[in-house]
Amino acid sequence: MATIRDVAKKAGVAPITVSRVINNSGYFSDATRASVEAAIAELGYVPNRLARGLRQKRTHTLALVLTDITNPFFTTVARGVEDIANEAGYTVTFCNSDESLEKEQKYLDLLVQLQVDGILLVPTAGTPENIRFLQKNDTPVVILDRHVADAQADIVRCDSEAGAYQLVQLLLELGHRRIAMLGGPEGISTAADRLAGYRRAMAEAGLAPASTLVQSGSFTQLSGYQMAKKVLSATPQPTAFLAANNFIAIGAVKALQESGLSVPDDIALVGFDDLPPTLMMFPFLTVAAQPACEMAQQATKLLLSRLAGEGPAQYQEIILPTELILRQSSGQPIPLSR
Ligand code: RIB
Repeated sequence: MATIRDVAKKAGVAPITVSRVINNSGYFSDATRASVEAAIAELGYVPNRLARGLRQKRTHTLALVLTDITNPFFTTVARGVEDIANEAGYTVTFCNSDESLEKEQKYLDLLVQLQVDGILLVPTAGTPENIRFLQKNDTPVVILDRHVADAQADIVRCDSEAGAYQLVQLLLELGHRRIAMLGGPEGISTAADRLAGYRRAMAEAGLAPASTLVQSGSFTQLSGYQMAKKVLSATPQPTAFLAANNFIAIGAVKALQESGLSVPDDIALVGFDDLPPTLMMFPFLTVAAQPACEMAQQATKLLLSRLAGEGPAQYQEIILPTELILRQSSGQPIPLSR
């Protein structure tokens, strides 16, 4: 009897693509649909509906799909998820999407095939297609850390807009006016919200930052280095940086050191995401710290309550406040003339 693999081989696609065509879910072209349907007809393949029936059985596994497994923010998130899942008798599969929508889709396809009971997703895009794909395949999902427009789903995140606003207010109170924004990727909500908080604080102070002072890049050290170099070439030079995440801040420090500039004497630096105490030999960065572990634990508890059929009737959006941690990098008050 023909199997899904025989159909895939005949149609020249992956088995998951055959599954998507059969379930009419996920991404595939009309040409792919036609070749799969022709292969099904030619081979007389009959989908194993019984296997889908097994869907109802719990595998007692959850999955966490995050975007940068090297970032201490996300390892702290993973710790929080695993603590709660393990207490409830679940194992956790970790997937790293590298901020790639294609990788995220491949992982979600695989996780649906593996019949995980639920997914905690840090989405790489601001569009709801992947959330809807999971819901169409009866896979409960809680969105973590970021928000997605038009997604009818539970969300647990931190208040990036207010955190960025608070950091810029601190710099303004210290006398800074030429404050540069080293931003994250456009299209990702945490980057957009941090930029919005920066702009709100600057506007309330009657400041309209020059475009050269407002950069967007990616949540990486290299991008932080490149953006810092760019804003340092602006005239007049900024006197302070707001880094949209921890890796951007680290890259910016490298660029400043190469330029012979010191933090905070020459440039004040504030950022998002604290680093775990175990990683900080000399904790000097002023940050808006996100309660990453608490956020992850609340998201996992919400997902488990959904699995138990005990979740609240409406989808939830839980927004946790950031914590402003003052350290040396924001420096002392500066004369307004500087
Ligand atoms: O470090 C990666 C960033 O992306 C973090 O600030 C986190 O909030 C995520 O959105």
